[in-house]
Amino acid sequence: MGDYTTVADLGCGPGYSTRLVHRVLRPALTLGLDNAASHLELARREPLAAVRFFAARRHAHAVASPSADFAILPFLAGSSERSRRVLRVWAEAVGPGGQLVVQETSELATDVPALKRYYSHVEAMQAHYGQALYVGRTLDRLAEKSGWHLRELRQTRLALRLPVMARLHAMNLRTWRRDPFVVEHWTQGELDQLLAELEALTKEDTPGVVHSVLAEAHWVI
Ligand SMILES: C[S@@+](CC[C@H](N)C(=O)[O-])C[C@H]1O[C@@H](n2cnc3c(N)ncnc32)[C@H](O)[C@@H]1O
Repeated sequence: MGDYTTVADLGCGPGYSTRLVHRVLRPALTLGLDNAASHLELARREPLAAVRFFAARRHAHAVASPSADFAILPFLAGSSERSRRVLRVWAEAVGPGGQLVVQETSELATDVPALKRYYSHVEAMQAHYGQALYVGRTLDRLAEKSGWHLRELRQTRLALRLPVMARLHAMNLRTWRRDPFVVEHWTQGELDQLLAELEALTKEDTPGVVHSVLAEAHWVI
């Protein structure tokens, strides 16, 4: 990696990844974009010189016009046609010499029954929407015919603390339990039960880890 003028965080959420990337790469300008107004509101609470947050869909051509020479995409969420389109759009936006890093999950392994059930529900829901929970396993193929050339693909093993993962999953479950596919396939009683089991695991002193593998692909034009 090298000196960058403009870095873009595609799906910046509340801005933690944007600020981290800005601190590490030290470009002249860092752009964080997201399509969720609530996330952007949180991101803008801590303004930082040379960091801008704006509302946009990352696969839209118009968005990519303030071209960046480096882009990072933490968690693409699936292997859908839309993900391929994001890669094509940003290949055009960054142009020659541009670079892209995508991070995705390749594995989430646990012995804890509530987490096993949670991952299996998420996998089924994502499959229904043409996405893949473990898209990190096929990340190398995602950019085919997009203009990007794979420079490096790393698979890193991580041990993620159980209470932290349980808290994250409980928050997510509260959101996706209203999804139409989920409502059709699981009863509200089953989801209440799963939520209660996840919440019971969020206590700070709960022992255990989730074994995860994080794929990180580095592409260049
Ligand atoms: C898993 S979160 C990652 C947030 C942040 N980058 C981080 O690592 O903490 C994915 C983010 O992408 C955003 N997102 C999903 N689809 C998007 C799209 N098509 N255009 C822009 N943002 C999108 C979501 O709102 C969410 O904030």
